[in-house]
Amino acid sequence: MPRIIFISADGSQQWEVEAPVGGSVMDIAVRNDIDMEGTCEGNLACSTCHVIVDPDWNGKIPAPVEDEQDMLDLVFGLKRTSRLCCQIIMTPALDGLTLRLPEASRNLLG
Ligand code: FES
Repeated sequence: MPRIIFISADGSQQWEVEAPVGGSVMDIAVRNDIDMEGTCEGNLACSTCHVIVDPDWNGKIPAPVEDEQDMLDLVFGLKRTSRLCCQIIMTPALDGLTLRLPEASRNLLG
């Protein structure tokens, strides 16, 4: 099974989790107790699933659609490779995908 590597915001911790093909990265993170909320459950209405994609992986993920880009504009601590990971669907090609958690997230619903 493909795997995803999550790295804590300060880089001090790392978690490698199993990532079923077809699942959203946000669902996979929540299921594995990664510190992420996914408040809107993947509806592009919050930004609590913000992750920063490792630069080596950024080009391998389909580009964000306009709605995701609009939401990303509101993210706290936006980086060049920031994404909302409910929009990243796991494929075999993403085995080893490496994502860093942001320092803080802003819950626009809360
Ligand atoms: S879970 Fe709300 S935008 Fe991803």
